[in-house]
Amino acid sequence: MLKFRTPATDKVIMFEWKSEYTVNIGSIDAQHQNLFAIGRELYAAMSAGQGKSGLGRILARLVQYAAVHFAHEERLLQLHQYPDVARHKAEHDALFKRVVAIQTEFNAGRTNMAVQVLQFLKDWLETHIKGSDFAYAPYLKAKKVT
Ligand SMILES: [Fe+2]
Repeated sequence: MLKFRTPATDKVIMFEWKSEYTVNIGSIDAQHQNLFAIGRELYAAMSAGQGKSGLGRILARLVQYAAVHFAHEERLLQLHQYPDVARHKAEHDALFKRVVAIQTEFNAGRTNMAVQVLQFLKDWLETHIKGSDFAYAPYLKAKKVT
């Protein structure tokens, strides 16, 4: 059975939500918090050495939730005619491709996905949110999106 282990001494809380991630738009912050929660769940499952079916289920949820979340942001950006919507959508598409590729590898039995998926989530949650999502936040706020 496939197992993932991380050092038991690791006291850092991975994927902890902090107010520094807020875009101040309720629906988007709530979805981002759910993504952090999936990240924590995945990390906990890996740390516990959970088998393939458990990890596969969480990964499937991550893929599905990523699609829902990206569609929600893109709908808002299009609705309010955000000028940089195409570039934002391209970033989403690249992130989504990456998570699907990780899932495909995982389902094919290639076991070395733990580091990849954690790195992917970290890039998304820290780089994309704090970069590109923060870039649209004032624009949507000015359009009275709450
Ligand atoms: Fe985004």
